[in-house]
Order: sequence, then structure tokens, then C-alpha cells
Amino acid sequence: MDGHANGKADSNGLRADDEPPEHLIRPASLRDLDVLVRLEEACFPHAEDRFSRRRIRGLLLNRRAPVLIYEHNGRAMGNAVGLIRQHTSGVSARIYSVAVHPQARGLGAGRRLAEALLTRFSEAGARRTYLEVRVDNIPAISLYVSLGFRQVCTLPDYYAPGQHGLSFCRPLDLGDAALIGPTLFDQLEAKSLRAVTERGSG
Ligand SMILES: CC(C)(COP(=O)(O)OP(=O)(O)OC[C@H]1O[C@@H](n2cnc3c(N)ncnc32)[C@H](O)[C@@H]1OP(=O)(O)O)[C@@H](O)C(=O)NCCC(=O)NCCS
Repeated sequence: MDGHANGKADSNGLRADDEPPEHLIRPASLRDLDVLVRLEEACFPHAEDRFSRRRIRGLLLNRRAPVLIYEHNGRAMGNAVGLIRQHTSGVSARIYSVAVHPQARGLGAGRRLAEALLTRFSEAGARRTYLEVRVDNIPAISLYVSLGFRQVCTLPDYYAPGQHGLSFCRPLDLGDAALIGPTLFDQLEAKSLRAVTERGSG
């Protein structure tokens, strides 16, 4: 959890415990389905970039898919979705999506959400985290690079003809540069990611 309370009583005599904390990151549940659908609509202008209601429901039921909600003063204003994958060689993770309501952007919510996901991945033992992003999504690319992600390869026509993606990777140990370079493993992994039908991270 990323919440905090100020510990003071307000003019109505309410203690901080009675109020929603200003910032809170919490796991989502099926009760949040409607909220998550609305957030997708608000955050992604293009319908093809959004998770469908059915897909969100499936993610909420998947215990390997952390779904986090960011609340500001009790209102859901962002979410982050990931996947933890168990391979014979170890555990890896993917960020599917980090999305913040346009009214709440530029205030640190996206960074909080991404960091909370990375913490979940680390706790699950993931040695690397992957994601895909549109080549022109400068805010998201800046966020991910600032968190230690490095570009692995380009993904031509990943989203649609002419709409290219970039594949990024971040090792758990940021000092482990050998894991960042575009190794053959990374390129094969990126190709296999492209082949799956699930939506990438935006
Ligand atoms: C990408 C997104 C999640 C960032 O959320 P946010 O809450 O605005 O980001 P933050 O305020 O936490 O900023 C974190 C970092 O993101 C980058 N960033 C955010 N907005 C940016 C902008 N307009 N231009 C360039 N970089 C930007 C910066 O590196 C920033 O770090 P800084 O504040 O130290 O400069 C948000 O723009 C969004 O929801 N976009 C639509 C959905 C999407 O495309 N998601 C990503 C792919 S799934």
C-alpha cells in the first residue's frame, strides 16, 4: 500500500482515520469492474487500446495478474495491470498497462503505480520485467526509462499496420547490465510476445 494519513482532525471534527487518504494504491477486486472500465475509457482515447470489460474481468480473476488502483481523495484516478510468468528458467513479469485519468496526470500517480507493480514483481521473484509501448507515447517511454527500463527492440506494425511498438526490459537488479542488452533471448522473447493475442501496454 502507498497510502498515508495526516493524523489531524479537520474542521468537522473528523479524524484522519475517517477520511480517505490523499493518495492510495490498492489491489483491485471484481467490485471495481465498472470503475476500471470507466478508467479505460477516460485514459485511452482510442478504443482499440482499451481492455474490454471481459478482459478486465479475466485479469481480476487471474491471481498471477496484479491489478492496482490509484485513488486520490477516495476517487479512482488510475490503474496498473501486470502479469507474473513462471518459466522453467525462472520468473519474469510484464507491465500490461499503467493509466492515469487525464485530470490527474503529471502529479506522480503514474510513477507511483508503476513502482507499486515493480514491487509486486520483485516480491514474486521476477528477475526481469518486460513491456511494450507505442513508439510515439513519449510520456510513457519517459516514465519507463526513468524507472530503469531499456529498449530491447522495435516491433514493426505491433499495434496495427504503420503503428509501431517498442519492447522494453528492466532487470530486477538494475546493476546487472548484462541483462539489459538486446540479447538473442530478449529478441526471441519479444517475438513471442508479439505473437500472443493479448493487448500490449499501450
Ligand atoms: C503515461 C502516464 C501513465 C503517466 O502518468 P502520470 O501520472 O502523468 O506520470 P507522473 O506524473 O507520475 O510522471 C512520471 C514520469 O513520466 C514522464 N512523463 C509524464 N508525463 C509526461 C509528459 N507529458 N511528457 C514527457 N514525460 C512525461 C516523466 O518522466 C515523469 O517523470 P518526472 O515527473 O520526474 O519528469 C499517463 O500519461 C497516461 O495515463 N497516459 C495514457 C495511458 C498510457 O498511454 N499509458 C502507458 C502505456 S499503457
